[in-house]
Amino acid sequence: MKEKLNALAAESAAAIAAAGSLDELESLRVRFLGKKGELTAILKMMGRLSPEERPVMGQLANSVRADLESALEAKKAELGEKALEEKMKAEALDVTLPGKHIETGHKHPMYIALDELKDIFIGMGFTVLDGPEVELAEYNFDKLNAPEGHPSRDWSDTFYFDKDSRVMLRSQTSPMQVRAMETMPLPIRIVAPGRVYRKDEVDATHSPMFHQVEGMVIDRHITMADLKGTLNAMVRRLYGENTKTRFRPHHFPFTEPSCEMDVQCHKCGGVGCPTCKGEGWIELLGAGMIHPRVLEMSGIDPEVYSGWAFGIGLERTAMRRFKIADLRLIFENDLRFLTQF
Ligand code: DAH
Repeated sequence: MKEKLNALAAESAAAIAAAGSLDELESLRVRFLGKKGELTAILKMMGRLSPEERPVMGQLANSVRADLESALEAKKAELGEKALEEKMKAEALDVTLPGKHIETGHKHPMYIALDELKDIFIGMGFTVLDGPEVELAEYNFDKLNAPEGHPSRDWSDTFYFDKDSRVMLRSQTSPMQVRAMETMPLPIRIVAPGRVYRKDEVDATHSPMFHQVEGMVIDRHITMADLKGTLNAMVRRLYGENTKTRFRPHHFPFTEPSCEMDVQCHKCGGVGCPTCKGEGWIELLGAGMIHPRVLEMSGIDPEVYSGWAFGIGLERTAMRRFKIADLRLIFENDLRFLTQF
């Protein structure tokens, strides 16, 4: 029995030393120390020993077991450490690698210009309105005092949905004036940005779809002086305190008197250059005092109330603001262009 114990001790020590993994080590523990293991098998033979031999063998068996246990324990610690080290090596992060670049979007230059405009008018107590792009000719023309036979009503200029020319893509944001007058209590101060459509060929300054911002004020005692003061304040905020403006007489069916507002050319300071086509001035918007008939058609008494209105092209405002030379750039969504803003 003593030989068997010694042999077991030697064999197990060698096996444990050679174990390459924690799994292998566990099967060695079962093999040597388990209930059906080799040490248990040897101890079962104790009964056959003489009373003198029993304590001596018992002591030897205990020390073999203790050695086995501590060898297993030591090897387990060693293998555990090795496994951890390998795991760390496998999962190592190279903090010097470049990170993943996440693209974030930003506002389109035209919407930057629109937000500036909205800010200016909200600051002056205006409400921002949104309205339909598919509009009734009644709102786009009739109630804006555009006479039958007006060239803008022509099929060659306007996108109609029906042969009676009743439903159309709005050709201006001005129908929002009518919608506001019909639904809002007086006094009214609104701006209404949105898309408009005309049958124009695409070129550097034209597009069949573009954007306008309509503005309108109606109250008692509103005069042309309010129009000029408000629009001058807007221009100074948009293009700088020292921007010069001028108002030229013009004609629109829905305003009387009507005017166009120009800003002095920022490039040449009014002398004349290619940017202003030699004029010294750049046309900015159309405006005027709301025609009494327009007020009347929407149920507002022109003897008591008066108002002014304007319409400004948003693309051109942005082009001037950011010095963009070609209108098509605004719609092409070329990232090389858009990321410049
Ligand atoms: N609707 C006009 C256009 O598309 C612009 C305009 C002119 C709007 C005068 C107005 C205005 O409100 O009073 O050319």
